[in-house]
Amino acid sequence: MNVKILDLTRQYEEIREKVESAVVEQMRSGMYIGGSAVTEFEKRFAGYIGTKHAIALNSGTDALVIALKALGIGEGDEVITTPFTFFATAETIAMAGATPVFVDVEEDTYNIDAGKIEEKITKRTKAILPVHIFGQPADMEKIRKIADRHSLYVIEDACQAVGSAIGDKKAGAWGDAACFSFFPTKNLGAFGDGGMITTDSDEIDVICRAYREHGSAQNGAIARSILQGVEERLEEDRPGDALYNPYKYFNYLIAYNSRLDAIQARILNIKLDYLDGFNARRTEIARIYNEALSDVPEIDIPAVRDGVLPVWHQYAFRCSDKDAMGEFLSSRGVGSAAFYPVPLHLQKAFDYLGYREGDLPIAEKITRQTVCLPVFPELTQDEQAYVISSVKDFYKR
Ligand SMILES: Cc1ncc(COP(=O)(O)O)c(C=O)c1O
Repeated sequence: MNVKILDLTRQYEEIREKVESAVVEQMRSGMYIGGSAVTEFEKRFAGYIGTKHAIALNSGTDALVIALKALGIGEGDEVITTPFTFFATAETIAMAGATPVFVDVEEDTYNIDAGKIEEKITKRTKAILPVHIFGQPADMEKIRKIADRHSLYVIEDACQAVGSAIGDKKAGAWGDAACFSFFPTKNLGAFGDGGMITTDSDEIDVICRAYREHGSAQNGAIARSILQGVEERLEEDRPGDALYNPYKYFNYLIAYNSRLDAIQARILNIKLDYLDGFNARRTEIARIYNEALSDVPEIDIPAVRDGVLPVWHQYAFRCSDKDAMGEFLSSRGVGSAAFYPVPLHLQKAFDYLGYREGDLPIAEKITRQTVCLPVFPELTQDEQAYVISSVKDFYKR
């Protein structure tokens, strides 16, 4: 049997009719960027997460950069984050001009260890940027308290965690701003790139909207007055000048072009209706893995904190012979992944930060141990049984 780590064609078949008719309708409408498809998706997404605002962008990476810039973070600032994540988390801190400061992770949840954050706070620290890795929220109660005590912002990297929650509060509603990715492999995936920022703050909302569109027009003027304390007024209308448009061609910030396409918004809007069902199916698959693998002494199954609802973007267990396990599974036709093979503090791109092996021992250890198994909602019972028996067979060789 062959079992892929992820097969997006199956989900496509399930939603095909709705998606194809929405896409054709959108193509015929002549509206390709912005417009009601995007504003409707933003409104529904904000309602789903439980925040006042949601700003649609063209990737999770852009969401992170724009959230950082919207909070005024840049040159000379430090942002505390985790080394066990996708590169973009810390890359964007550097892109904003700030310095990522890495704090080690918890061995069993793989999330930033909130108990180790305070010792890394300096006069330059501006924000804490936790990642809800593999779909499990980080300890946001503790992180929020630390941030409030030290007057720091919290930016959630919720790119892998759409729909997850702590108690009845969803990931994305805990920070000053939160960032989501709609990369196709994500729990809510577009048919291309896409991203979102959520926030309760009217000011952050308007600044993000300005940053996504060249810092132009009314949003740009308001954003500049908030960020730079400069009072801006849009130019008076010029009667008789048909080409003059103060709402379009006046720019107030050096910013970005980071809009979500209308077609992607239509697709995501349809998929949002399926998200809780897809996440429930992932949760059931994870439960079956946990039950089946908990009696394998060589394996540590992933831990879930009390009161937390993870959405299992990945199912990652730990074992001491990760590479051999991956090769064995592959020889049996089972797809697996090794997220993440290098902790960010040891990535070549971050050489300039001066970290050395041994600095963050837990993150380094788990990068040598985690194996991700197929956990996509459409995985069949037979396929999962085959994956489980293959994992067990590895130890029976
Ligand atoms: C934790 C994390 N942060 C950031 C990103 C960046 O998102 P995108 O690929 O949409 O730019 C991703 C996903 O790729 C991610 O998994």
